[in-house]
Amino acid sequence: MKKRALTGIKPTGNLHIGNFVGAIQPMLKLATDPNFTTNIFIADYHALNLAEGRANIRQNSYAIAASYLALGLNPEGCTFYRQSDVPETFELTTFLTSFTPKGLMNRAHAYKAVTQANREQGVEDEDIGVNMGLYIYPILMAADIVLFDADVVPVGKDQKQHIEFARDIAGSVNSVYGQVLKLPEAMISEETMELPGIDGRKMSKSYGNVLPIFAPKAELEKICMRVKTDSRTPDEPKDPNDSILYKLYVGMADEAQAKRFHDRFVPGGMGYGQAKKELAELLDTIFGPAREKYNALMASPETIDKHLDVGAAKARALAQATLKRIREAAGFRV
Ligand code: ADP
Ligand code: TRP
Repeated sequence: MKKRALTGIKPTGNLHIGNFVGAIQPMLKLATDPNFTTNIFIADYHALNLAEGRANIRQNSYAIAASYLALGLNPEGCTFYRQSDVPETFELTTFLTSFTPKGLMNRAHAYKAVTQANREQGVEDEDIGVNMGLYIYPILMAADIVLFDADVVPVGKDQKQHIEFARDIAGSVNSVYGQVLKLPEAMISEETMELPGIDGRKMSKSYGNVLPIFAPKAELEKICMRVKTDSRTPDEPKDPNDSILYKLYVGMADEAQAKRFHDRFVPGGMGYGQAKKELAELLDTIFGPAREKYNALMASPETIDKHLDVGAAKARALAQATLKRIREAAGFRV
C-alpha cells in the first residue's frame, strides 16, 4: 500500500532556499517515488492570521505554485491545490476544535512568539496581533493533514510541534470513535532541517534574511556578498560549525561539490569573498534553468489556475471520503 505524503506552504512571500531544502525538495522527490502518493498545497488560509500575511495572498499563492511547477513538479502525478479551494478543510477544523484542549494551543510556538513579542514591547501579552486564527492555527493545520489520511509530512524543524499537535488531536478523536483518523508523522531531514539566513538566524521571510530562489542572478550575487562572516583571513582554517557561509553552501551542494568546497574552505586557502562568489554560482546553477519557466508561469496565471483547479477536484474527492467517515462516526447525517 502506498503511503501518502503531504505538505503545505503559506503564501506570505517569495520562496527562499530554506523553504526549498525543508519542504520543496523532499516533496519533489516523494512526488516521483512509486511508494508514495503526494498532496502539495498552498496554505492560503494560514496567511490570514498575521496582518503582514493578508496583503498579497493572490500573488504570493501564484508564486508558490509557479515555483513548484518551474522546479519540475508534474501536477498530474500528485494532488496539487489551494487550501481555500477545499472547503471540507474548514468543516473538519470546526470538528477538531471540540477535541483540542485549550491548554495545548497555549503552548503553540506561533502564538507564543506573538505574546512574547508583545511582552518585550511592554504591552499585555494578548494586546496586539493575537486573533483567534493565530490561536487555533495548529487546529487548521491538523485539519489540512488528517483530512487526507497523510502518513508523512515533510517540513522544516520549526513545524515539528504542529505535527505532534495534529497527532494528539487526531488521537483524541480516535479515543472517542475508534480508528477514524490516521496519525501523521513529521519527516524532517537531519542535515538540512534548518538552513540559516544570511545573518545566522533561521532563514525566514519574517526576518528578511533570505536568499530567494528565483531572484535574478545579479541580486543573488549581491545578497550572497552580505552573508555574515568573521574577520579570518583566507589562509586561516575555518570552523564549519561556526560558518553561515559553509552551512549555506553545503546545505545546497551535492556530495562532490560539498567535498570540493570543504577541502579548500576548512583548512584555509579560500577566502570569504571567493566562497561567497561560489555560493552565488552554485545557486545560479541550481535555480537558473528554472527561472525562465518561473517567469513565464508568473506571466500566465490562468495556466497556474488550470493546474490548481484539477488538483482541487482531486483533493475534494479525497476530503469528502474522510469527512463522511467522521460524520458517520460522530452521528451526523451523511
Ligand atoms: P518562513 O519561515 O520563511 O515564513 P514558512 O513558515 O512559510 O517559512 O515555511 C514553509 C516550509 O519551509 C515549512 O515546511 C518550513 O518548515 C520550511 N522552512 C522554512 N524555513 C526553513 C529553513 N530556514 N530551513 C529549513 N526549512 C525551512
Ligand atoms: N504551517 C506551515 C508553515 O508555516 C504551513 C502548513 C499549513 C503546513 N498546513 C500544513 C505544512 C500542513 C505541512 C502540512 O510553514
